[in-house]
Amino acid sequence: MPKQSDVLSADFLVKIAEEFGTPVYVYHAEKIKTQYEKLQKAFTKTEARFFYACKALTNINILKYINSLGCGLDTVSIQEVQLGLKAGFDPKNIIFTPNCVDLQEIIAAKDLGVNINIDNISILEQFGNKFGSSYPICIRLNPHIMAGGNFKISTGHVDSKFGISIHQLRHIERIVKSTKLKVTGLHMHTGSEIKDVDVFLRGVEIMFEMAEHFPDLESIDLGSGFKVAYQQGDPETDIDLLGKKLSDAFNGFNKNYHRPLQLWFEPGKFLVSQSGYFVVKANVIKQTTATVFVGVNSGFNHLIRPMFYDAFHLIRNISNPHGTERIYTVVGNICETDTFGWDRKINEVREGDFLVFYNAGAYGFEMSSNFNSRLKPAEVLIKEGKPHLIRKRDTLDDILKNQVEITF
Ligand SMILES: Cc1ncc(COP(=O)(O)O)c(C=O)c1O
Repeated sequence: MPKQSDVLSADFLVKIAEEFGTPVYVYHAEKIKTQYEKLQKAFTKTEARFFYACKALTNINILKYINSLGCGLDTVSIQEVQLGLKAGFDPKNIIFTPNCVDLQEIIAAKDLGVNINIDNISILEQFGNKFGSSYPICIRLNPHIMAGGNFKISTGHVDSKFGISIHQLRHIERIVKSTKLKVTGLHMHTGSEIKDVDVFLRGVEIMFEMAEHFPDLESIDLGSGFKVAYQQGDPETDIDLLGKKLSDAFNGFNKNYHRPLQLWFEPGKFLVSQSGYFVVKANVIKQTTATVFVGVNSGFNHLIRPMFYDAFHLIRNISNPHGTERIYTVVGNICETDTFGWDRKINEVREGDFLVFYNAGAYGFEMSSNFNSRLKPAEVLIKEGKPHLIRKRDTLDDILKNQVEITF
């Protein structure tokens, strides 16, 4: 868990809930900065660059803030690229790492001047035939490493759709040679929530072997997957140890490659997860024969991680932080099983109390939907102690705005 001083207090969050209503996502700008600085500090011994994987949270203000820190941006759709440019990122500081997109989308990114990662043979060949050496590219490889906190977020194993298998090296080489493609980067990303530093080391060794086959490289991108703690005692990736071991390995490799390469990363969760709080209101306390449910004014349409990944989010009652602890199952209001947490010890919850879900900055709002025609929550950014509304709560008009009514 984050150190106490990093955490927005219960009283403060209650004030935000009263002022902006609930459900509401609250982000703490300075926490994002602290996380970014932790990464920078861990990798001072080698030339490392970080590109925020904005799929975790794309509010334009978050992007602008992260740009102001000097961090780059990692994107997976042309819309994320466009948002990044709108937020002020230099195209040279944007990486585009899409999966299963068509050539048109890749060309659109090329026209915007960003770094492009190609992750399949078909597009590699088409891109090479069309552009040859005129637009350098990066190749996303699949290193065949099984890692990650959940199968849905494991992306580097043999059954994964991501990247070009390292066993297809000969095929890649044939395409590069015959189309004169200029390959300036190699990329891999084995998954999210990887606590074991050795997984990254195994990955980088594979990348070093691959790098020998590409003379024009300027960078090796190890993606991300740094694990953060979601509850007390939860293991995290030891970033300092990772920085030390990877920097040593990378510096060793750099001595033998004919030019020094940069080491790139694309952290998403590590930068924004702990900066985020999701505050909801207890609508009903419902005692059944077996369980005491707290039914809140939200659901998996707002925070899908518990139902989708079996993820754990610490839940606290910020309206009654010193009340007697009791056991509750916290559920949402969606029309199917919609459980945020089973058998949680929480200070006594009364109807109308505000509850907070911690570590809700990454893949929280971003994966939200209007399922059940419910409105998406508001978002508030806290910077230098001051709250700024950065997204209004949806209204019914938002749900209807792209619907076309016909006459019957
Ligand atoms: C290619 C790529 N890079 C970076 C990330 C960010 O991962 P994380 O949020 O675990 O840091 C992802 C996550 O899906 C990814 O697919």
